Amino acid sequence: FCSDLMAEMDGDCPSSCICVRELGTVTCRDGEDTDVPGDIPEWTSTLVLQGRNISTLQSGAFRDNGTELEMTTLSLSYNGIQTIEPYAFLGLPRLRLLDLSHNQLVSISARAFHGLPQLRSLYLNYSILPPATAQLSSALSAQSLANLHRLELAGNRLNSIPLARFDIYSLHALVLVNNSIEIIGGENVSNLYQQRHLRVYLYLNPFRCTCDLEAFYYWLKNSSQCPDAGRLQCSEPEAKKGIHVEKLRGEDVDCMNENLEAVSYVFLGIVLALIGVVFLMVLYLNRGGIKRWLNNIREACRDQMEIYHYRYEQDSDPRLANVAV
Ligand SMILES: *[C@@H]1O[C@H](CO)[C@@H](O)[C@H](O)[C@H]1NC(C)=O
Ligand SMILES: *[C@@H]1O[C@H](CO)[C@@H](O)[C@H](O)[C@H]1NC(C)=O
Ligand SMILES: *[C@@H]1O[C@H](CO)[C@@H](O)[C@H](O)[C@H]1NC(C)=O
Ligand SMILES: *[C@@H]1O[C@H](CO)[C@@H](O)[C@H](O)[C@H]1NC(C)=O
Ligand SMILES: *[C@@H]1O[C@H](CO)[C@@H](O)[C@H](O)[C@H]1NC(C)=O
Ligand SMILES: *[C@@H]1O[C@H](CO)[C@@H](O)[C@H](O)[C@H]1NC(C)=O
Repeated sequence: FCSDLMAEMDGDCPSSCICVRELGTVTCRDGEDTDVPGDIPEWTSTLVLQGRNISTLQSGAFRDNGTELEMTTLSLSYNGIQTIEPYAFLGLPRLRLLDLSHNQLVSISARAFHGLPQLRSLYLNYSILPPATAQLSSALSAQSLANLHRLELAGNRLNSIPLARFDIYSLHALVLVNNSIEIIGGENVSNLYQQRHLRVYLYLNPFRCTCDLEAFYYWLKNSSQCPDAGRLQCSEPEAKKGIHVEKLRGEDVDCMNENLEAVSYVFLGIVLALIGVVFLMVLYLNRGGIKRWLNNIREACRDQMEIYHYRYEQDSDPRLANVAV
């Protein structure tokens, strides 16, 4: 048996790799090679490449010789992979687990994950650098990911959920731990409610606990879809820093409440402005009347003055005084 095994290791195993045919595993660590080995044995069910300086995962990298491999597990963590070309995983129709964690991806083709109809677990934790963040969403919308059950995206400084929709997958676990997500908006929340079997892990994100978080807050409390809900904390605003999101009170995230004061001032301002405008309009529309009125007053005053003057003059007329006497 031993000699058989040795023979196979000698004959069939890619150089600088360790093969265990009984288990179907091929493990290649820390080689000088900067490529995927070209001679992966047909019987391989698990291939582990680690610590190699691969940098670019080329189209058809695992499709040596145009043949398909029966491999179900492919682990490519810690290889310094920066670029994934279109159709990089072609020829692996049985692949169920793909681990790309701990790489330095700056470019992911929108067709990177095409041809993986059986893929159930995709690990991209600690792997996505900012230039690739924007490309992630289109790469992950591949039709071929319909069977995806678990998606790991921890530690990628993401500030939103990089999925345009949830209903194209069979997702049961979405791991977004240790990212830069401040807010999960109402649209995402209502889509989450519709994926009842989906669990979303969100520990270590810097939540901004303003009233924009209201829908998410009630989802946390209501849905039990977030297993680490009890560990989520607010980072902003300063007054709520460190407070557990779940421990907030309803009025802390209530926009009506938060805006009530501002709204009442705005309302008061509007009312005063309206009164002012109405007043000015009345003045304007009546400008003829007002002029007339002012003139009337002036004339009345003048008349009064004249009468007074006249009386005074009369009073001071000695003849009249005599008459009166
Ligand atoms: C990895 O390979 C690239 C070229 O493909 C080279 O520039 C770089 O220095 C290598 N890095 C390491 C750590 O070997
Ligand atoms: C390429 O394919 C041919 C026929 O399918 C096979 O005989 C040959 O061994 C393959 N070569 C390698 C390197 O896998
Ligand atoms: C990345 O995800 C894989 C799969 O869950 C896990 O085994 C591994 O521990 C994760 N790495 C880190 C640093 O969290
Ligand atoms: C969170 O992720 C960053 C990289 O994005 C890493 O440096 C840090 O150690 C991680 N923190 C934890 C607690 O895992
Ligand atoms: C999440 O929200 C963003 C922005 O509102 C949107 O573009 C994206 O499609 C949403 N994704 C899901 C799965 O709801
Ligand atoms: C569930 O959420 C709604 C708001 O969407 C809220 O009115 C209701 O009180 C919540 N139920 C529980 C049990 O928290």
